[in-house]
Amino acid sequence: MKKIFITFEGGEGSGKSTQIELLKNYFLKKGLPVTLTREPGGSLICEQIRDVLKDGNNGKMGKVTELLLFSAARSQHAEDIIVPALDRGDIVISDRFYDSSIVYQGYARGLGEKLVREVTKIAIGNLEPTLTLYLNIDPELAFKRKNGPDNDRFEKAGLDFHIQVRNAYINLAKKEKRIKVIDASKRIEEVFASIVKVIEDKIQI
Ligand SMILES: Nc1ncnc2c1ncn2[C@@H]1O[C@H](COP(=O)(O)OP(=O)(O)OP(=O)(O)O)[C@@H](O)[C@H]1O
Ligand SMILES: [Mg+2]
Repeated sequence: MKKIFITFEGGEGSGKSTQIELLKNYFLKKGLPVTLTREPGGSLICEQIRDVLKDGNNGKMGKVTELLLFSAARSQHAEDIIVPALDRGDIVISDRFYDSSIVYQGYARGLGEKLVREVTKIAIGNLEPTLTLYLNIDPELAFKRKNGPDNDRFEKAGLDFHIQVRNAYINLAKKEKRIKVIDASKRIEEVFASIVKVIEDKIQI
């Protein structure tokens, strides 16, 4: 049985949730079963770890702790949701996966790609997405979409961080054939059309 595991990556407000919903309906219309999931989260234990990561009182969390918590959640997410769904023949679509840790913990937070890959290996073994769609967009445009035109400026530190994230994704996509870069600055339907093109090209259903 062919296992199809598609992940979406991209900065905040790049359109991941919007495009994932469209792709889910695209597969369902074809009569194909879909499991939709997200990181960090997907099952009770994962959601509990997510709460620790998102808790505003945990501002002092160290970078390594953060990496280990994301990885712990990912391990449980694979075991509880992703692997069983692939085993029963569902197409699995995940909103973020380990590329997010390479980019955010490895590059933006500075732990390095090598360390993140080592920890990821412990967390999920050889589980790999079949295809990863990276939604590439200027972070300022994504921020405007999310927060409205009247609230359209990042503080400088915030913007620098998001530019670093974007550059890290672009560099990672250059190294990994599995990652396809999608121009996410266009209209919703145009972005989705590029995604369908990649799906039809890369995924044999
Ligand atoms: N191509 C597009 N053009 C204009 N607006 C868009 C486009 N795609 C998404 N949006 C809008 O931008 C906002 C962010 O989109 P969405 O929530 O899908 O992004 P996301 O990557 O899931 O964000 P988050 O990081 O918060 O989960 C939403 O209000 C959405 O309706
Ligand atoms: Mg989202």
